[in-house]
Formats: sequence, C-alpha cells, structure tokens
Amino acid sequence: MTDKVLLIGHGSREHAIAKALVKGGAELYSLMAHKNPGIVKLSKKTLLSKLTDFEHLKELSSKVDFAVVGPEAPLAKGISNVLADQGVPCVGPKTQGAQLESSKSFARELLEKHRISANPRFKIFSSIEGIEAYLKEIGGFVVKPDGLTGGKGVKVFGEHLQTEDDALQYCQQILKEHEQVIIEECLEGEEFTLQAFVDGKQVIPMPLVQDHKRAYDGDTGPNTGGMGSYSCEDHSLPFVGEGDVEVAIQVMQQTVAAIKRETGEPYKGFLYGQFMLTKQGPKIIEYNVRLGDPEAMNVLPLLQDNFVEICWGIINGTLKRASFEEKATVCSYLVPEGYPSAPKRGEPIIIGDVKTELYYGSVHQENGRILTTSSRSIALLGIGNNLQQAHEQVVESLDKIQGKLFYRRDIGTQELVSRRIQHMRRILQA
Ligand code: AMP
Ligand code: GLY
Repeated sequence: MTDKVLLIGHGSREHAIAKALVKGGAELYSLMAHKNPGIVKLSKKTLLSKLTDFEHLKELSSKVDFAVVGPEAPLAKGISNVLADQGVPCVGPKTQGAQLESSKSFARELLEKHRISANPRFKIFSSIEGIEAYLKEIGGFVVKPDGLTGGKGVKVFGEHLQTEDDALQYCQQILKEHEQVIIEECLEGEEFTLQAFVDGKQVIPMPLVQDHKRAYDGDTGPNTGGMGSYSCEDHSLPFVGEGDVEVAIQVMQQTVAAIKRETGEPYKGFLYGQFMLTKQGPKIIEYNVRLGDPEAMNVLPLLQDNFVEICWGIINGTLKRASFEEKATVCSYLVPEGYPSAPKRGEPIIIGDVKTELYYGSVHQENGRILTTSSRSIALLGIGNNLQQAHEQVVESLDKIQGKLFYRRDIGTQELVSRRIQHMRRILQA
C-alpha cells in the first residue's frame, strides 16, 4: 500500500525532503505558506496556510499515514502534539523536545543538569543585574536572546559588539522582548554540523556538513541563513578527527536520553547539532530540532536507504542504521541581490539547462514566471567523487540561472577548505 505523507514547509529543505519521500514511494500532501513550484509538482494535494496556524491541518491530516515537519516554528508551537491528537504520527519532536531549539536556556541547562560535557561556560540572566560583572569575568563572550530568532540575534564580542557598553545595551534591548538573555564564553575553533535521525532512543548519524553563514566570498559580509555547504566523500570533514565525530554522536545520544528523562516524552525526528571543534573537543553551539537548510540538501540525496522506511523507523522506534553514498557534495544558494539586508523582491529568475539537482527556496510563482522574494531563492547541488568534482558541477549550473541574484563561488574550494584546516591546526597547537 502506498504511504501517504503530509509535508509541512515550503523551502529548499522541504523540497529536498519531498524528493526523498517521493523517491521512497510516498504520495505527498503538502502544507505551505507560499507556493514552492518544486513541492507543488511532487504533491497530490497542496494547501496554502501559515505553518503555525493549525486550523486547517485536519483537511490534510485526515488523509495521511504520517507527517514530516520541515521548519522549527510549527514544532515549537506544538504541531506534533496536535497531529498526534488527530491520530497522525510525526517525524519531528513534540513541544517538549522542540525546546532544545526554541529555548537556548533550556538546552544549556539540560546539558548542565545531565552532565553532558559540551557546554561553553555560560550564565542566564532575567535582569541586567550582574551582567556587567560576568562579562568582565568571562573575557570573550557571545550574547544570545532566549527564544526563536530565525538565526538572528546572536552577537559576538569583537565582531558585532565592539565594547562592553554595546553588549550591555544589547542585553537591555533583548530583555525588553525576551524573558532571558544568555551570556556564554566565545568558543574558538571550526564549526561543523552533525545531523541525525532519532527514534526516541537511537541516534543515527548522517555525513558531517559545513555551512557558510557569511554572504560573500572569503567568509566576508553579513550573516545569512546559510549561503551554501559542503560534505566530503568520507562523511567527515578534513579538520575533524575520528574521535571528534564519536564524541559528537555521544553528546547527541546523551541529549536525547536527557530529553526523555526530563520531559517524559521521547524525541522523534531529526536532530541537528551545531558544533564548534575546539582544543577541548566538540562543544555545542546550538541544537536545531529539524534538518538544516542548506545542510539537508547535502545529505538526503546521498541516502541509500528508503527514506519513507527511515521515517517509519523514527516513528516506531525501530531505526537500525542508515547508509549514504561515499560522495562529496557542494550546495550553493542563489539569493536576491541585496540579500540579506535589502533583497530585491519580485525579480524574475530564468532557469536554463541545469544539469545538477535544483531545489526551489523562497520564490513565488506567478503567471508561469518564477520571482524572487526576500529570502534565499534557489539551491543547486553538485555531487562528485571528491569536492573538486562537486564544486565544478555546481558552478557550471549556477551560471545557467539568470536574474538579479548572487551566490558564493568559493564553497567547497580547496583554498577555503585549506584555510579551515590551517585554522584548526593553529588552535590545536596554541
Ligand atoms: P546560533 O544562532 O546559536 O547558531 O549562533 C549563530 C552563530 O554565532 C554560530 O553559527 C556561531 O558562528 C556563533 N556562535 C554562537 N555561539 C557561539 C559561541 N559560544 N562561541 C563562538 N561563536 C558562537
Ligand atoms: N544552516 C543553518 C540552519 O539550518 O539553521
């Protein structure tokens, strides 16, 4: 019998999930806030609605066997709880587990309470009192609002905050909108992403990925939702040691066990660990309770198992293992000119003869034309036996797309990767 699956979300990550579900034999029903032409084409039925508005869910949930949730906002608001009440199991944690992303203080305190040694030094404040003294005590620091901020809101001393006064003012501003602010030690190292399938108990890892948050080549310019990402054929990254991956997996396993002990609710879904590899080993920068965007595109197309069966494994608590092709990937986003601060919206995008995988992001389809919105437009994925091949492929395709768009050319290049390796070496030797 065909599995009927409800997919929540409308970005490139969800387009990648949609492709994997359909490849696994699923019949797709999708809920999205704007029409993603790629997902619409793969779906039997599509409903347009705000993703955090659950009123119309039943129209689709009554038709499906299970649901897969793409973004964090509906998870934080309890879509998995609501769907469970409607008899639909969900790939995506309930609110209890979703706090790992929706509340940075919850995540930090959970790790501390359960003695999971992946936290930087940190302190949580609900008023300005004591912050100044702590800033002085801790040295290099990062300021984070408690709550979902769409990847924005984190400010690093020396980068976004130049003086302690700047930092105090920023804390004051945060405390007007959020209950708490977190001050944590600024970790030095290289970041990597470890994503996993989680069935309540088992943490089944996917290949490591490195994302690029800065807008322009050479890691310059403002922070974005992620301009692109790469993964390597050995499923690790050139600056990460074998022991480091094991530590990172263990940290995630301990976190999943802690969620169950703390909330009574098993964590079922995807778990995304953003790690900083430091001299003292991997430390958690943050958890996301979903796949990454763009990181989902690096891993799902390499999956050798049936994704629908993996989803059932997550739901039923019967995951065993997952295999991925031993290939390298480079994913690059085309984004509107002016992104992220002043993106040119409503500009047409002309797609030529693209030979790689293409994922529609935040675009809008009108009278047969594809138009830009305010966010990342289209992701392209190169897959090769090594990074060089994957990079060549993606650059060739990027040039086939026209419009008022830009992208980074350096993701996955030898030059950039070497810089990362050298940076890590310097840190380990210091
Ligand atoms: P987050 O929203 O927590 O992922 O933070 C956004 C970015 O801020 C991360 O990708 C890091 O580059 C940086 N960041 C966050 N926390 C820290 C930390 N404790 N030390 C150094 N950099 C950090
Ligand atoms: N690429 C970062 C994220 O998905 O949050």
